[in-house]
Parts: sequence; structure tokens; C-alpha cells
Amino acid sequence: METTAAEAGQPGPAVHPALAPVSYLLGTWRGQGQGCYPTISSFSYTEELNFSHSNPRKPVIAYTQRTWRSPGGPAAEPMHAESGFWRLKPDGSVEVVIAQSTGVVEVLKGTHDAEGKVINLHSELVGNASKVKEISIEFRLVDGELSYELQMATTSTNLQPHLKAVLERV
Ligand code: HEM
Repeated sequence: METTAAEAGQPGPAVHPALAPVSYLLGTWRGQGQGCYPTISSFSYTEELNFSHSNPRKPVIAYTQRTWRSPGGPAAEPMHAESGFWRLKPDGSVEVVIAQSTGVVEVLKGTHDAEGKVINLHSELVGNASKVKEISIEFRLVDGELSYELQMATTSTNLQPHLKAVLERV
């Protein structure tokens, strides 16, 4: 099997130029999150995000998320997981497709502010969901930490906070 540059301990492939403004995402992030919603009990979770880029000819980032009940980390009970792809569009906007472990699929579209290192996404499509109607998420890189706040609307509740987390690069 062919060995990649990264596996060989050499610098990985160059990043597609369109990804440069969000290349700070690339890598693995781990940290703690809190969940809430008007209809549920609040909860804490440990989260790991991975953003990777393997084809410098395409402005695409592969994305995976895993969570575990806190306290405990990866030895604890797994919670929600999801994976998908982030694509930087020629007009500079961001498009994200995600498949969730709950069976829900999402297409999110939005913008990034390269200078402020802020990314705002809003659902254009939520599919195969019994309750979820809308999802909004804001990512921020502040002092090297990646944080996000996610809001959702359901069949019974307007857009309200569901998740927030602060993650450090590992
Ligand atoms: C509850 C959606 C991410 C943990 C819910 C509910 C919905 C939902 C619709 C039920 C609310 C109600 O009954 O009114 C979503 C969506 C997510 C997401 C769309 C991502 C975009 C997560 C993550 C975790 C999580 C990452 C854990 C780390 C929970 C828990 C509950 C809940 C513990 C309450 C108990 C339950 O219904 O299982 N979520 N969720 N969710 N969510 Fe999420």
C-alpha cells in the first residue's frame, strides 16, 4: 500500500488555495461541551473533532465528530457522532454536508470571516428528522481555542441554544 507524506513523517500535501482562510481548522481538537434545550435536562460532554484535507486539487475538508458523556472522555459512554465534508465554494461561501448518528442529515451553508476567524453556518436542508427543523452554528478561533455555539429549532421550539463547546488542538 502507498504511504502518504504524513505517514512518512514528511509535510502533507499542500492545502488548496481556497481553503487557506479556514486552514486553521485542520487537525484534531478535543474539549468539553455543555448541552441544553428548553425541553430536556442539561448535560455535559467530551468532544473530539477532526478536520482533514487529502486532495490539494479540491477545496474539501473531511470532518468527523465524536462525543462521550462527561466526565469520562473516550472511556465513557459514547453519545452523538457525525461526519461529513466542508466545501469552500468559488464565491467564498462555505457548504457543509453532515450525516448524524441519529439518522438526521444536514446541509449547512454560510460564510467565513478570515480575519476574525469566525464561521457562521445555517441549515438549508435538514432531512430524515422527526423533530429538528433548523440548525445554526457559529465557530470561533480565539487565542488558539476553537469554540462553537449551536442552536436548533424543532417542531415545538423556536431557534434556541442546544450545544456549546471549547476545544483545544491535540
Ligand atoms: C436532545 C437534536 C447534537 C445530546 C435532542 C433533541 C433533538 C436533538 C431534536 C430532542 C429535543 C426535544 O425533545 O425537544 C440534535 C441535533 C444535533 C444534536 C440536531 C446536532 C446538530 C447533540 C450532541 C449531543 C446531544 C452533540 C451530545 C453530545 C442530546 C441529549 C438530548 C438531546 C442528551 C436529550 C435526551 C435525548 O433526547 O436523547 N437533540 N442534537 N445532541 N440531545 Fe441533541
